[in-house]
Amino acid sequence: MKLRTNFVAATMLAGAVSAFSFLSAGAAQAQGALVVYCGVQEEWCRGMVNAFERETGIKVSMTRKSAGEVYAQVKAEAANPRADIWWGGTGDPHMQAAEEGLTVEYKSPKMGELQDWAVRQWEQSKGKTVGIYSGALGFGYNTELVKSKGIPEPKCWADLLTTKLKDEVQVADPNSSGTAYTLLATIIQLMGEEKGFDYLKAVHKNINQYTKSGAAPAKAMALGETTVGIAFMHDIVTMVVDKAPIKVVAPCEGTGYEIGSMSLIKGAKNLDNAKKFYDWALTPAAQKIGAETKSYQVPSNKATPVPPEAPKLADIKLINFDFAKYGSSDERKRLLSKWDNEVKNLPK
Ligand code: G6P
Repeated sequence: MKLRTNFVAATMLAGAVSAFSFLSAGAAQAQGALVVYCGVQEEWCRGMVNAFERETGIKVSMTRKSAGEVYAQVKAEAANPRADIWWGGTGDPHMQAAEEGLTVEYKSPKMGELQDWAVRQWEQSKGKTVGIYSGALGFGYNTELVKSKGIPEPKCWADLLTTKLKDEVQVADPNSSGTAYTLLATIIQLMGEEKGFDYLKAVHKNINQYTKSGAAPAKAMALGETTVGIAFMHDIVTMVVDKAPIKVVAPCEGTGYEIGSMSLIKGAKNLDNAKKFYDWALTPAAQKIGAETKSYQVPSNKATPVPPEAPKLADIKLINFDFAKYGSSDERKRLLSKWDNEVKNLPK
């Protein structure tokens, strides 16, 4: 009998051990890892990572860079990708990456919940990138500096050319910044390429610095380091919410806008976890983390509340931005090279 008892006990123990190891292995399997390249503000990037880790147990490593920088890194790593998903940042570099085969197509079960402009981004990229938010380009000015320098309050792109604003305007470099590339493409679509570059050469004389990040000029205005900052209006609103003496301007001639995007990296080592993040990032629960971290873009899921602080796109004179053209590899390369050669190093 004793032998039998021991046998039964041993069998039960073995069963328990294997069940535990299966569960723990299963749990370990469910956790796994994910590498995210993030293109929005650090606070939002961090908020997304923390929420996704809590939700799934998946360990995320995240790097925040500007849109042009992420594109360059994804391209450089194409033979041995380090990232699994590229989340956020303006759509143009995502479109270029899609055309160059650096990202892969995926149809999320969440597609039916998205705004038309988000789905159009997916269609135009043959399913390789999708819209996650939108926001209009504009500029802002520090009201105290404008007053103290006796500068008329700027309302139009043309107002930024006044000699009274010499060294008093700040914008990012379009090579690194999606915001600044949106400015380049916007001005060309508003004025035509020749007059557009004449404008960029003229405003260059008033630029005090081409920053790496698109939102930096908004922060510089708040600190009084520049009188005018060209950025997405929602990034300037963030400074206003933080009580900076800034006025946000939708330029009178009209302006462009972005479709912040998300793409799965070709060759991703954690593709299943990347798809879990992708689907989750399209949900209202994920998209509302933007407003919770003071990013006031318009979200792409129809059920995500639009932050009351978000500039009302319907009230802004928006151009019909040609994302297919300005997100094409040849055109983006050509315009950036032309800007480098004809604008960036012009004497002031
Ligand atoms: C900020 C904005 C985003 C935009 C991003 C582009 O984070 O809030 O809406 O997509 O800048 O960043 P970049 O540095 O590439 O201009």
